Amino acid sequence: MSKQFDVIVIGGGPGGYIAAIRAAQLGFSTACIDEWKNANGDPAPGGTCTNVGCIPSKALLQSSEHFEHAGHSFADHGIDIKEMTLNLPQMLSRKDTVIKQNNEGILYLLKKNKVTFFHGRGSFVGSLGKADAEGYEIKVAGKSEESITAKHIILATGSNARALPGADFDEKLILSNTGALSIGAVPKKLGVIGAGVIGLEMGSVWRRLGAEVTVLEALPAFLGAVDDQIAKEAAKLFAKQGLSISLGVKIGTITAGENDVSVEYTNAKGEATKAVFDKLIISIGRTPNTIGLNAETVGLQLDERGFINVDGDCKTNLPNVWAVGDVVRGPMLAHKAEEEGVAVAERIAGQHGHVNFNTIPWVIYTSPEIAWVGKTEQQLKAEGVAYKAGTFPFLANGRARALGDTSGMVKFLADAKSDEILGVHIIGPMASELISEAVVAMEFRASAEDIARICHAHPSLSEATKEAALAVDKRSLNF
Ligand code: FAD
Ligand code: NAI
Repeated sequence: MSKQFDVIVIGGGPGGYIAAIRAAQLGFSTACIDEWKNANGDPAPGGTCTNVGCIPSKALLQSSEHFEHAGHSFADHGIDIKEMTLNLPQMLSRKDTVIKQNNEGILYLLKKNKVTFFHGRGSFVGSLGKADAEGYEIKVAGKSEESITAKHIILATGSNARALPGADFDEKLILSNTGALSIGAVPKKLGVIGAGVIGLEMGSVWRRLGAEVTVLEALPAFLGAVDDQIAKEAAKLFAKQGLSISLGVKIGTITAGENDVSVEYTNAKGEATKAVFDKLIISIGRTPNTIGLNAETVGLQLDERGFINVDGDCKTNLPNVWAVGDVVRGPMLAHKAEEEGVAVAERIAGQHGHVNFNTIPWVIYTSPEIAWVGKTEQQLKAEGVAYKAGTFPFLANGRARALGDTSGMVKFLADAKSDEILGVHIIGPMASELISEAVVAMEFRASAEDIARICHAHPSLSEATKEAALAVDKRSLNF
């Protein structure tokens, strides 16, 4: 006899486990199935984000930033360190502890909210009754096999790293994000293919720890999705840090040897080039994961790139089957997956869950951090929108000077007539935290003047946000 639930969620990443918690909060009997296991074979919910994504990358970014500060900027503060060594095994083990704390935290939250957790792979067996709308039977294949049923199914099966043809990930020499987070010794020469978010974050970690990092990017422009002025500033600062970034390359043959990897490529001038690296990270985007769902059995539609087809409400082509997160269109971000998960659970309950795609923030956790929300200046130009821009450099911010981190700026873009904020772009210290004020402002359709008239604590980095808002009307007070 199958166990019956109101809602079954397949996938326990940020999209799935949050959807399950919200569904349970709304009174549905809810199951969440996730197959991720840790080194001991135990459940490790949290998906890519917790296990090989957001959390471990931020742990290593933090540790490597401490290492860099201790080696370079501590002396400035009057702190002399006589002998400093890198204990990489400890750094990696700390990262693993942080992952474990998050896995355990999620298991606790599921239990607290009375979500039944199943460890194993979930796949469709078929629909119940004559009409799909009556529900679905799902098989869970874990240590044992069981069958469960529910009227509503939420698919949150995430994504996998995209490989380059002819260069499969072996996670020893040719690394995806998984291997990039667990390199056992700092490579002398590290190659990175793809100057996107992972390439820049992981390239930064290993450069700070001492690797010579070369990033090879296919597109001729650096960080095309970022506001041009901010991207230019970032390129300048990364070059100063010693991150070598080649744009407009065409990758040819990649050959893994015994202890190194060679990459043949054509550079932007069309010259054939070859580079040999101790390790190679390939970070050229991610592909949606529907492996093992047995989606064909029930006729679930995928698009031509393998994403589950959904409408604006995350409904698939099947009645009462929903999909959220990396496995559907839109930005591959943990917070986007979470918002979709909450919205779907609320729609199942007959409420009006909503995700505002215009106010999803982006953050690149390099040093300085890059964060933005809304439109870039080049987008506004292309759309023919009349706008005003205001910028304020951290160099003129007292807190940034006290911190010893004055790189970057805050930039506001506001409608020329109504003054409504259309985009905010930050490169600088704690940009990941500062962007929240802009997100709130845009969600409430605030004007630049609204931010300019709000009292901000002094001395704080957030004063740069207020000053950039003032600069929209050329009224900066401190620059
Ligand atoms: P996932 O997190 O991929 O979770 C899917 C889960 O479903 C997995 O546990 C998988 O094992 C499980 N699963 C799949 N199929 C089945 C099945 N049939 N049965 C049972 N279980 C199944 N985003 C940010 O917002 N901020 C960041 O700082 C950030 N950093 C990142 C760093 C790296 C290196 C990477 C790779 C990604 C990063 N991301 C970041 C992106 C973020 O990780 C994803 O957007 C997010 O994890 C997507 O959540 P999800 O729930 O859709 O899928
Ligand atoms: P990405 O899409 O950010 O960047 C991929 C880069 O690789 C692009 O610049 C692209 O032009 C380049 N590229 C593609 N094919 C190439 C080729 N053949 N040769 C050379 N360059 C090539 O993808 P990435 O970095 O793999 O990350 C995947 C996703 O994970 C991100 O888009 C983001 O959604 C998420 N992520 C988010 C983070 C955050 O929020 N801080 C951190 C890390 C990942």
